[in-house]
Amino acid sequence: MNKTELQSLAREFGTPLFVIDHKVLRESFLQFKKYLPRVQPYYAVKSNPHPEIIRTLYKMGCSFDVASMPEFQVVYENIKHLPAKTRQDFIWDKIIYANPVKATETLEELDRYKILLTYDNIEEVKKIKKHAPNSGLVLRLQVPNTGSVVELSSKFGCPSGEAVDLMLAAADAGLGVEGISFHVGSQCTNFENYIQALNLSSGIFKEAQSRGLDLKLIDIGGGFPAPYSSDVKPFRDLAKKINSEISRLFPKEIEILAEPGRFLAATCATIVAKVIGKADRGGKRSYYINDGIYHTYSGVLCDHIPYQVKAFKNGTTQICSVFGPTCDALDTISLSNELPELAIGDFVYTENIGAYSWASSTCFNGFPPAKVVHLNQ
Ligand SMILES: Cc1ncc(COP(=O)(O)O)c(C=O)c1O
Repeated sequence: MNKTELQSLAREFGTPLFVIDHKVLRESFLQFKKYLPRVQPYYAVKSNPHPEIIRTLYKMGCSFDVASMPEFQVVYENIKHLPAKTRQDFIWDKIIYANPVKATETLEELDRYKILLTYDNIEEVKKIKKHAPNSGLVLRLQVPNTGSVVELSSKFGCPSGEAVDLMLAAADAGLGVEGISFHVGSQCTNFENYIQALNLSSGIFKEAQSRGLDLKLIDIGGGFPAPYSSDVKPFRDLAKKINSEISRLFPKEIEILAEPGRFLAATCATIVAKVIGKADRGGKRSYYINDGIYHTYSGVLCDHIPYQVKAFKNGTTQICSVFGPTCDALDTISLSNELPELAIGDFVYTENIGAYSWASSTCFNGFPPAKVVHLNQ
């Protein structure tokens, strides 16, 4: 984003200001489609559920991965006006409820929508049979998350040895089993994870078919890395590997889904904040800014991304600490951030902060989340 424009927006709207560039969002979506032509992207709403982001992706023909009723509702807002049959087709074809463990109340609400749900254990089969029998089921498999920044396999996914039995159990309960999903861990720069997961899924897929299950889809989850630093290999390199594995392992009629969150949301947003305080602590220059880890920089803690704060000003830099505005010492954005000499009132910014940032912002200590402005909508 243009630095002069960011500063004039900050002057106009105040800070902290979360600037979403919808042109960048559309470009990321098109890039995903271009490099993975056989894969239908289901945007992982959790990464940034802003209704305008959902709206832009909806207009581009994107599908959606939701993991709570409020996330379902934010997508539903876009389709509620459609005729009943078109709306229902959209829900079945273009939404997946990809949270393997769901409260019974949630299942009861979901049942009337006839939606695809993921699951990974037998208790969930019993719950779905009782509370949401009209759903389609997708088994979430445990796969290697080696080297991924956010590890998910310790919380979700059934061991491969139990996979076919869990699918048969669901089918025996009279539920429709549609396919298999996995997640290689978020910000996955070890592309081998995808290769291993695809091969594991293919073996299980074939065994399930040989035991009479008519599986239709593979959902390769999220994990596609955002270019936070220059050592993240290009998306097209990953896509090339995925494309060759899926065409080798899965016949053309098998649908391939993915649930990209970070890849679509990260690069479309920049936060602009303001220096509100300045001190020397332990011989190190420390800046206090009006956004922090309870707010847009929540990803430092929850998402393990070491965001760096940049200055609009030029000048000789030194290693500084950057703290957020709250009274909690945990509210530390970085203890090692190169910055030039800044004055109270100067603006600072961080790019590529669209994913797992605004989404996990709180009102802690009375500080509200950043204001949002939209460019190129
Ligand atoms: C089930 C599921 N799908 C998709 C995603 C999105 O992953 P990413 O942002 O790495 O693409 C997540 C992230 O936690 C997830 O849990």
